[in-house]
Amino acid sequence: MTVTILAIESSCDDTSVAVIRDGCVLSNLIANQDIHMSYGGVVPELASRAHQSNIVPVTHKAIIQSGIKTEEINAVAFTRGPGLLGSLLVGTSFAKGFALALDVPLIEVNHLQAHVLSHFILEKDKETRLPSFPFLCLLVSGGHTRIIVMKSHMEMEVIGNTIDDAAGEAFDKCGKVMGLPYPAGPLIDKLASEGNPDAFSFAKPSVKGLDFSFSGLKTSFLYFLRDRLKEDPDFIEKNKTDLCASLQHVIVSILLSKLIKAAAQTGIKDIGIAGGVSANSALRNAMKEEAVKRNWNLFIPEFRYTTDNAAMIGITGYYKFLRGEFSDHSVTPLARY
Ligand code: KG4
Ligand code: ZN
Repeated sequence: MTVTILAIESSCDDTSVAVIRDGCVLSNLIANQDIHMSYGGVVPELASRAHQSNIVPVTHKAIIQSGIKTEEINAVAFTRGPGLLGSLLVGTSFAKGFALALDVPLIEVNHLQAHVLSHFILEKDKETRLPSFPFLCLLVSGGHTRIIVMKSHMEMEVIGNTIDDAAGEAFDKCGKVMGLPYPAGPLIDKLASEGNPDAFSFAKPSVKGLDFSFSGLKTSFLYFLRDRLKEDPDFIEKNKTDLCASLQHVIVSILLSKLIKAAAQTGIKDIGIAGGVSANSALRNAMKEEAVKRNWNLFIPEFRYTTDNAAMIGITGYYKFLRGEFSDHSVTPLARY
């Protein structure tokens, strides 16, 4: 029997719908919300409204593009959390309605587990190298920065976490200070490619164990710019590429130093990155260099599976389907999972 999953992701500001058959992506559509750009961050109320307008047309297109008939769907998977409650409610209610109408099971998915399992997404006519367990993954997104050990598709142990801001937040908030639109991460990555990573230095936090902290970096970046702007009001404009490169350099080195420590502590060699910040070119390159040096079996996701997408919800839903892990229709979304 083939297993066809319709997957819905609506945890933050991307409305995404995918169709996955036996772990292989048939379609994966994402409607981004440009509306938040000028606000310097996601406005929850606007995000929920945009999901409400996008979810039906995106689902319609995803089904058409997949080439399947609606009756072939065996289950509906959706992001239960963590995320913005209003955004999650749109996807959850829609998934319930769809599952009920088709009389198929409903599958709740943890968004963070899905980011890690994005490494298991298969694609048509393409050979995919899959991680073995235990799999050590650095999950870096706009809301989370965690070091996770996956013992199986379903067993997840968090061994490192941020004690304040996430790595993506550090990119976005420092970008906002420089006057960049939200999300600043991709733009900083682009500008950094023309800058000098050693032009400015920012203090690295000292946090014990495998945990992270990024709020001090954000504050020191802010004070640094405030002082320089007093001397030269055009300081940011004149030094934008160097500022981006130096900021990116320190964020990547904070992330990498903890991941190296985690790899040494656990002895795990199958190592990957996931989440929106895993699209960062400096992080990807630094990971490749470390992998060669330390003999890691490295997993770097395709760009399309780094930021929020429904294909990762679908692959997680597929493994839950195989285990018969279904949800009751009384299930409610969780802002914190
Ligand atoms: O995983 P994601 O789409 O959403 C969350 O679950 O949070 O991650 C979004 C985050 C944003 O903070 C964005 O600035 C960051 O990922 N991001 C990047 C890059 N692409 C996305 N950060 C640095 N470099 C990039 N190329
Ligand atoms: Zn995410």
